[in-house]
This record gives sequence, structure tokens and C-alpha cells, in this order.
Amino acid sequence: KKVSIIGIPLSEGQDLEGVHLACDDLRRLGLYDVIKSVGWDYEDVGDVKIEKKKMHSNEKKILLNGNGPEKNDQNGCVEYEENNIYYNDIKNIEVIGKSSENIFKQCDKELKKKNFVLNIGGDHSIAFATILSSVHNYENLKLVWIDAHGDINVPETSPSMNYHGMPLAHALNLFKKKVPYFEWAEKLKHLKPENVALIGIRDVDEYEKIIIKKSNIHYYSMFDIDKHGMYNICKNALQKIDPDNNSPIHVSLDIDSIDVLYAPATGTLAKGGLTYREIHLLLKMLADTKRVVCMDLVEYNPLMDVKDKKLHCDSLPIHADATVTGKLCLEMIARILGNDI
Ligand code: ARG
Ligand code: MN
Ligand code: MN
Repeated sequence: KKVSIIGIPLSEGQDLEGVHLACDDLRRLGLYDVIKSVGWDYEDVGDVKIEKKKMHSNEKKILLNGNGPEKNDQNGCVEYEENNIYYNDIKNIEVIGKSSENIFKQCDKELKKKNFVLNIGGDHSIAFATILSSVHNYENLKLVWIDAHGDINVPETSPSMNYHGMPLAHALNLFKKKVPYFEWAEKLKHLKPENVALIGIRDVDEYEKIIIKKSNIHYYSMFDIDKHGMYNICKNALQKIDPDNNSPIHVSLDIDSIDVLYAPATGTLAKGGLTYREIHLLLKMLADTKRVVCMDLVEYNPLMDVKDKKLHCDSLPIHADATVTGKLCLEMIARILGNDI
């Protein structure tokens, strides 16, 4: 029983500073001790190389002078379909595309060892590469995506042009055009929608709602969780994506799925999230399948975290000055690895 820890300090999929610090923060707060305490060995393979773009001054000029998308205002709607330029206008697409290839390769290498692979982001952009890696290594892979957001925008519908709002659409191969710097992924197998459960959504963009409904993925909003309870939702989700109970599972966990009260340190906060008990139950039920092979933990931004003022008694070996969200991250890692009481 061994965990491969992969640090992925990629923050270019969104606008805020700090999300790249999460992996080192969790290492400092006791990641290794926590993993050992629940009965696993670990191998920290370090951080994936992020290919920072060196911009020349003449390149900057071109960017500033536009080349931007042309809007067709004639009938009040924007003609995105024919406009290639949008794919180049995804923010930081060069850094993300090139780094994603490194992520894919590192993840692939660790999955081949048959270790449990723990990908610590970084923002949610990392998930395109990690998921394709899991799909590549495991026949019939299932995906549980836990998030306040759909992250299922395509470039044509994205309100922000931030790639972290798009990786699920990309992994499902819903993009209509080729994305620059992602040539390495074009021939790889992508996800099938019937293998995906999206849990916890409550902040979904107008077009994303349409994409979600059209796509054949299984989705569970906060209302569904309120109505039926997390136990039933998780049971139903697993039954839908994996009726035979025998497939490997990839979990992609966005910290913003959890309520602000318990996880304040993230860049895109959405009120009304999962409670502390709900996320723990969900992760425990997933752990109980014994079929989780890979987990992404993303969007934790240590620069936004707050002191844990209460005198909690922690059963896990977490550093005494751990902050609220950092501590929760370590608890969730222990939970998915089978910390069962
Ligand atoms: N839907 C918004 C967008 O596309 C927010 C996405 C937030 N994603 C995340 N991984 N936190 O820009
Ligand atoms: Mn999110
Ligand atoms: Mn997300």
C-alpha cells in the first residue's frame, strides 16, 4: 500500500496568486506523517515542472494590440463557432498546455507502479492531464468530480477565459476545435460522459447548465444533496457510473465544493457548500469501495487561509499551527486512504 505524492504547482488556470503553494504547505503541515498514520507508505516524487512562458517585448505588443475575438453584435449574439481565435485566447494556454504534458507523463509513471496517486494542485486545470492519465492506465475508469462548479465550459461559453473552468469539458472531448499546446493529447483516449458523476454543484454558468444537461454525465446539485442526503447521493452516483461495482475510480476534489465555513482558503468561493460531515461521508464511502486509484486535491490557496482558533483535539499527526483549510485537506487525504472512524 503505497501513495505516490505528486506536487503540481500550476496556478495559471485562474487569476489569484497562491494556489501553487498548496503542495509545499501540506508537506510542511504533516502530509507524510498523516499518510503513515493511516497505514500507507509514501513516495514523494516532488513537483511537476511548470513551463513558465518567457515573453519577449514584441510578443507582449501583439497581445496588447488585440488580435482579440471579433464580436458579431448584429443580432445581439456572439458568433463564437467559427472563430478560432478563442482557443488562443484561453488565458495562459501555453503554460497550461505544455505543463499538462509534464503532468500526464509524471502521473502515468506513478499509476504504472500501481500506487495510489495523489495529485496536489494547483488549480483545477491539472485535472485534464491527470484524468487522461488515469483513463490511459485503467480500462473502464470512472470519475467522481466534487465541485461547487461545473468546470465544463468550452472556450466559446467561458465567461472568464480561465482554463480551470473548462477541464472537465476538455477531458470529455467537448471542445470543438484543437487547443494550442495540447497537441500531445489529441490521440489519447478521452472520458465518456456516462462514466462521470459531478457532485456538489451550485455555481454553474448559464451555458454550462445546457452543456451539463445535454452531456449525459450524472450530476448532483446541492439541492439533490439537501433532499436525499449525502449517503443516498453517493450510493446513487456510484450505482449510476459503476453498476457492477468493479471499476477503478478517479476522484477530482475541488476544495471549493466544501462550505466556506470549513474551507475558506480558495479563489472562487460559492456559498452553501458541503458540510464538514458531508465531505467526510462522501470520501469515506468512496474509500470503502477500495477502488479509488487516483485523487486530485485542487484549488487550496494557503495565502487565503485563516488560523484555527479552536482547541480541537486532532487524532491525526498534523502540525500544531495548521490553518483551517490546510488541516481539512490533510483530514480528507486520510479519509480517502481509509481512515475509517
Ligand atoms: N465557471 C467559472 C468560470 O468558468 C468559474 C470556474 C471555477 N472553477 C474552479 N476550478 N474553481 O470561469
Ligand atoms: Mn470549483
Ligand atoms: Mn473545480
